[in-house]
Amino acid sequence: MSEILDYGPLQELLGTWQGDKGMDVAPEPDGAEENPYYETITYTPVGDVSNAESQRLVAVHYTQVVQRKSNDQVFHHQTGYWMWDAANELVMHSFTIPRAVALVAGGHWRGERDTDGRVQLEVIARLGDDDWGIVQSPFMRDHARTGKFVLRLQVGEGRLSYHQTTWVDIYDKLFEHTDANELIRKR
Ligand code: HEM
Repeated sequence: MSEILDYGPLQELLGTWQGDKGMDVAPEPDGAEENPYYETITYTPVGDVSNAESQRLVAVHYTQVVQRKSNDQVFHHQTGYWMWDAANELVMHSFTIPRAVALVAGGHWRGERDTDGRVQLEVIARLGDDDWGIVQSPFMRDHARTGKFVLRLQVGEGRLSYHQTTWVDIYDKLFEHTDANELIRKR
């Protein structure tokens, strides 16, 4: 009989989610633009992974497709993994976006839940951090440098919400690029 894997806090993510309350605040040369959006995020179980014969992870893969409400165009695409290291109560989130930016963010989960009882996750990555870092192309480093990323996500009972801030050094200023949405599980 195959082992039933415990995905810990990631169990709640599994499935396909849709939400149309998204709001993106993105950098523009003369300030900021606000982009209302809708999106589909699909989380798929990967199974378990062992590293150096000592670390044991379970992993979930996801794709996130984000469309502008104004014209239905896909204006953000993201794919990556969530990983759970139960022994160390550690959540890891690695992803890449098609601007040639990738990161590995981390945070602990010690049973945190929001007031609705939903699992609450927080992960952070910083440029130059030895633990949880960011990599980007030379162009992005020089012209639109991602310096820090923070994501807070709540999930449970068929509802998922998140708020994330990406600090981008662009157009001679440090811009707080934010994205937030609320999604409902579709299947
Ligand atoms: C729902 C999620 C996201 C949406 C909807 C979104 C949308 C946008 C938009 C509309 C721009 C302006 C670019 C343009 O005018 O062509 C932008 C810029 C940028 N985004 Fe995002 N973004 C998201 C998440 C992220 C994440 C997670 C990162 C990195 C960790 C990121 C990194 C950047 C960078 C570095 C730029 C500057 C490039 C530029 O403006 O030319 N974004 N994003």
